[in-house]
Amino acid sequence: MAREHEAAILPQKGGPFALGKRPTPEPGPNDVLIEVKAVALNPCDYYQRDYGMPPVPIYPAIIGSDIAGIVAKLGSNVTTVPGPGSRVIAFASSFYQNGSPDHGAFQKYTLAQSEAVTSLPESLSFEEGAVFPMAVLTSLTAWTTVGIPLDTRYTPADKQAVLIWGASSSVGTFAVQSAKALGFTVYATASPKHHDLIKKLGAHAVFDYKASDVISQIVSAVKNDGVKLHTAHCVVDGALQPTLDILKETKGDAHAKVAHSPLLPEGHPTLENTQIKFNSPPMDKAARGEHIKDVFHGWLKTGLQSGEVIPSPAIQVEDGGLGGVHAALDKLKSGVSGTKIVVPI
Ligand SMILES: NC(=O)c1ccc[n+]([C@@H]2O[C@H](COP(=O)([O-])OP(=O)(O)OC[C@H]3O[C@@H](n4cnc5c(N)ncnc54)[C@H](OP(=O)(O)O)[C@@H]3O)[C@@H](O)[C@H]2O)c1
Repeated sequence: MAREHEAAILPQKGGPFALGKRPTPEPGPNDVLIEVKAVALNPCDYYQRDYGMPPVPIYPAIIGSDIAGIVAKLGSNVTTVPGPGSRVIAFASSFYQNGSPDHGAFQKYTLAQSEAVTSLPESLSFEEGAVFPMAVLTSLTAWTTVGIPLDTRYTPADKQAVLIWGASSSVGTFAVQSAKALGFTVYATASPKHHDLIKKLGAHAVFDYKASDVISQIVSAVKNDGVKLHTAHCVVDGALQPTLDILKETKGDAHAKVAHSPLLPEGHPTLENTQIKFNSPPMDKAARGEHIKDVFHGWLKTGLQSGEVIPSPAIQVEDGGLGGVHAALDKLKSGVSGTKIVVPI
């Protein structure tokens, strides 16, 4: 096994990344050491690179979270992950490991906690596998954030509907896939060029969020369909006000629930009898570990095995390996539309 490996090292807030060598760590009892074959990029990565937010406690830092690769070595207590040579997907984030640079995606070998590692089916490439971790974790966490357990299975008789505002985003596509699995009738917003994809992923109806009458379009559709819409996931910035405008018309006397994935702005809009919560996993470490296990060893593992969960949105491969991560992150920062940026390593 390698004694040292290449890494995209973040020397200080603001970057740029520098390519360098790091000692390859031995896995701790609950860690899995993974040879990274592909990484996917998330907005959180450029927030950390450029603004040190979410906090980066240790510099030089290794950031990033989404990988697909090959198991190199299992920690002594790991029983739930297949052994060396297995193809896996992992949420490999230093953020939840006090900034430990041995954890973190943007390097050739990384450590991930066993609960955040699941098998990559042979039918999927490493590039396809890398798109899942952050987006799946975030989209499923939105349900538990507003008190909806992941084993919920509504039937058509329940008439439970949900609004996903920002469905063509990376998180949004898995919000749609998971909403469908929970049994919701899914109403979604996206640019028209992505409507077919969002329907294929499980949406009942998709609306152009730039249409001047999008709110009345959605309210009319919900009322015509005779479903109960009092749950929503605001996936992108700027989604909260239109979401509340819709819920105001559809929730009746019900207590409405909104999960909000971007940070909630100070003085954000509110609506009576409506809970609006920032989408976040449990703060308690043990509870968070259980939640991550439910996501990766539950919904994702089962869905990948059955083929019901598919990679989404479209993959945009960027070249350059670890040396290409900086420029690829700049591309993400300048905005993507219905694509996930992935860098083969
Ligand atoms: N709370 C957490 O733990 C957590 C974790 C991960 C991400 N996040 C946050 O979640 C958000 C989504 O992240 P992501 O990686 O999924 O984003 P992304 O894929 O980069 O989002 C791009 C998409 O956003 C859509 N969009 C932009 N403005 C929109 C609007 N006003 N209405 C509807 N759609 C709009 C675009 O849709 P069209 O192309 O169709 O126009 C585009 O496809 C970010 O704010 C991110 O910081 C939070």
